[in-house]
Amino acid sequence: MNNKKNVLVAGGAGYIGSHVVTVLLQAGFSVVVLDNFSNSDPSVLQRLEKITGQTVPFVHADLRTCDTVVSTLRNYRINSVIHLAGLKAVGESVAKPIEYYGCNIQGTLSLLEAMQTCGVHELVFSSSATVYGDPQTLPLDETHPTSATNPYGRSKLHIEEMLHDVARASEKWKIVCLRYFNPVGAHPSALIGEDPAGIPNNLMPFVAQVASGKRPLLRIFGNDYPTPDGTGVRDYIHVMDLAEGHRSALDFVATQPGWQAINLGSGQGHSVLEMVAAFEKASGRSIPYQIVDRRPGDIASCIADPARALRVLHWKTTRSLEDMCTSTWAWQRYREVGV
Ligand code: NAD
Ligand code: WQD
Repeated sequence: MNNKKNVLVAGGAGYIGSHVVTVLLQAGFSVVVLDNFSNSDPSVLQRLEKITGQTVPFVHADLRTCDTVVSTLRNYRINSVIHLAGLKAVGESVAKPIEYYGCNIQGTLSLLEAMQTCGVHELVFSSSATVYGDPQTLPLDETHPTSATNPYGRSKLHIEEMLHDVARASEKWKIVCLRYFNPVGAHPSALIGEDPAGIPNNLMPFVAQVASGKRPLLRIFGNDYPTPDGTGVRDYIHVMDLAEGHRSALDFVATQPGWQAINLGSGQGHSVLEMVAAFEKASGRSIPYQIVDRRPGDIASCIADPARALRVLHWKTTRSLEDMCTSTWAWQRYREVGV
C-alpha cells in the first residue's frame, strides 16, 4: 500500500532515521533525507547506498530553515514526512535547555509551517516513552498520564501537544506520534548503527565499548530497585523492528485524520544484568562491571503495552534480545576494525 509515496525523512542520517530509510527504500517508497549532521556523519549516505543499491536524495539543512524545507517539499513532491530531527540527550538537555527547546520545538514549528505552506498534512513524529514520566502502572498504555522531568522530555511533550492542537484545528492533518521505548541494535549489514559522540549515555553502546576493550568497565546505576534483580528494567526494541513500525505508521497515517499516539515497544522488560549477560554471550567477551549509586532521574522499570500498535498498525516486534546484542556487536566491530 502507498509504496509510490514520496517521503521526507527529517533526521534521516541519524541512528533511527538511517534504519527507517533502508526499510522504506526496500518497501518501494521514494525517500528524501534532510539532516544538518549535528549528530551524524555524511558517510552514512554512502553506506545507505551500499545497503539498498539506491542513491538517496539528500538535503543538507537545518529544519529551522523553513524556506529550504518548503523548497524540498515542493521539489520532491513530498506526500508524507517522518520527523526524527532533534537533540536527544537527557543530561545535556538539563545543561542546555535553550538549545534543546530551540532545536526540538522551533524545528518542529518550522516543519509544520513549511508543510502547511505546501499542503502536506501527513506526519509521523518520533516521540518517546519519556513522556510517561515515572510510571504509575505497568505496562504503559497510551492512556497513561504524561509528564516530564527534564527539558528533553518536556520538549517531546510540548511537541506532542502542539501537534494535537494542529490536528484539532483542521481535519486535513493526519499525525501519528510514535512513542519509542529503548531502541538498540543495528542493521544486519553492520554498515549502520548507533554511533554516539564521546562517552555513551545509554546502556547498550556503553556495554559494546566495554566488550571491545575501549572502556574498562560498566558502571551499573543501582541494584536496589524494586525489580527481580534490583537493576533497572527497560523495554528494549531492535532498531529494525522500530524502523518497520515507521513503515506501518506511514500506511496508517494516510487513513487517519487527527492525532494519534502509539507505543513502539516489545512488551518485554530486561534488567541491566540480563542485558550484560546477553551481550557477553553474543560477543564472547566478558563485561566487567561495578555497582554504583542510582543515576538521578532514572526510574525502576519502563515497559510498553504494545497492543495498540498491533491493533492499528498490524505491527509487533519480531527480533530477539540475542539479535539486538549480536547486531550491536557486529556494528561495534565494523567501526573499530572494519570487519
Ligand atoms: P540521532 O541523533 O542519531 O538522529 C537525529 C538526527 O537528526 C541526526 O542525524 C541529527 O544530525 C539530525 N538533526 C538534529 N537536529 C536537527 C535539525 N535542527 N535539523 C536537521 N537535522 C537535525 O538520534 P536517534 O536516536 O536516531 O533519534 C531520532 C529521534 O528519535 C529523535 O527525535 C529522538 O529524540 C527520538 N527518540 C530516540 C530514542 C533513542 O533512544 N535513540 C528514544 C526515543 C525517541
Ligand atoms: C537503561 C538502563 C540505566 C547506562 C534513555 C532516555 C529516554 C530514551 C531512551 C530518548 C537504566 C542503566 C545505563 C550505564 C547503567 N531516549 N545504565 N549504566 O535511561 O531508559 O532511557 O534513552 O527518548 O528518554 O532517558 O536508557 O540506556 O540510558 O539506561 O546502569 O552506563 O541502564 O540506569 O536502568 P533510559 P539508558
